[in-house]
Amino acid sequence: MTNHRDNSLKEQILKLKKERNAVILSHNYQRGEVQDIADFVGDSLELSQKAARTEADVIVFCGVHFMAETAAILNPHRTVLLPDAHAGCPMANMITAAQLRQKKRELPGATVVTYINSTAAVKAESDYCCTSANGVKVVNSIDNKEIIFVPDQYLGDFISRRTGRKMTLWPGYCPTHMKILPEDIRRKKAEYPQAKAVVHPECRPEVIALADEVLSTGGIIRYARRPEVSELIVGTELGIIHRLKRENPDKLFIPVSEQAVCPNMKLITLEKVLWSLEEMAPAVSIPDDIRLKAKAAVERMLAVG
Ligand code: 13P
Ligand code: SF4
Repeated sequence: MTNHRDNSLKEQILKLKKERNAVILSHNYQRGEVQDIADFVGDSLELSQKAARTEADVIVFCGVHFMAETAAILNPHRTVLLPDAHAGCPMANMITAAQLRQKKRELPGATVVTYINSTAAVKAESDYCCTSANGVKVVNSIDNKEIIFVPDQYLGDFISRRTGRKMTLWPGYCPTHMKILPEDIRRKKAEYPQAKAVVHPECRPEVIALADEVLSTGGIIRYARRPEVSELIVGTELGIIHRLKRENPDKLFIPVSEQAVCPNMKLITLEKVLWSLEEMAPAVSIPDDIRLKAKAAVERMLAVG
């Protein structure tokens, strides 16, 4: 719901954005009013593809820290702003570079595939990055029997089942998607028997087993556009409902669980977007030794598609 205050903030943001030659990128989980001022709203893969191609001098990243870091990995000569420096992803902090180095020593010769929800230092220790949109494709492209997958055990398990490849999984997880329970899906399915159920692959395997489709947030947005879809049970973070409703005003979207909120995603507000453009802070940058190694893993992912 936009109001007078939001409109005035919006005008100031758009004016300053022009002066700074900035682009505003937003993840699908951002607050509705933040999504609405963005130049582009998407999933992690789409946002990294956008960041790889931008000509703007400044990227305002409305998302969490690893997403802004990925933009900075690809754009060392542009300023990347994350309007709240505390907007982190707890899953990304569930493995450190030292822990991954230790795992690599235990399994020498393994190929390391790292979910994009990870720090730049962990990406720098990896062979490939992947997102929830292209994880199956990335793993299928690897010609090695031994694969280490970090940090999300559930995305790893999902990819492993889809590809038939055995992988060594790190026990990380998303605290927000963990809150979605099988009984939540069963309850919604009983209430809306006509509706299809889509869930994100960060969900528990018991939840994934009950879904009709398992998709990245961008995949869910595309699935909802299909003409045969009129009611959809949505098993992911609640922020996506804003875009689903905006793009499909005549369809019904039913969140699986009201508990599925990512507090870090909600730290970004219009006030903070304006402030970051005024102050040109907080900026995210990565030392070149780490950046160049992390970039190789991100670019290997982008080459797979
Ligand atoms: P997507 O890449 O599917 O947008 O997911 C990002 C994320 O953080 C999910 O929790
Ligand atoms: Fe990280 Fe989960 Fe939030 Fe996505 S929803 S940013 S994985 S904590």
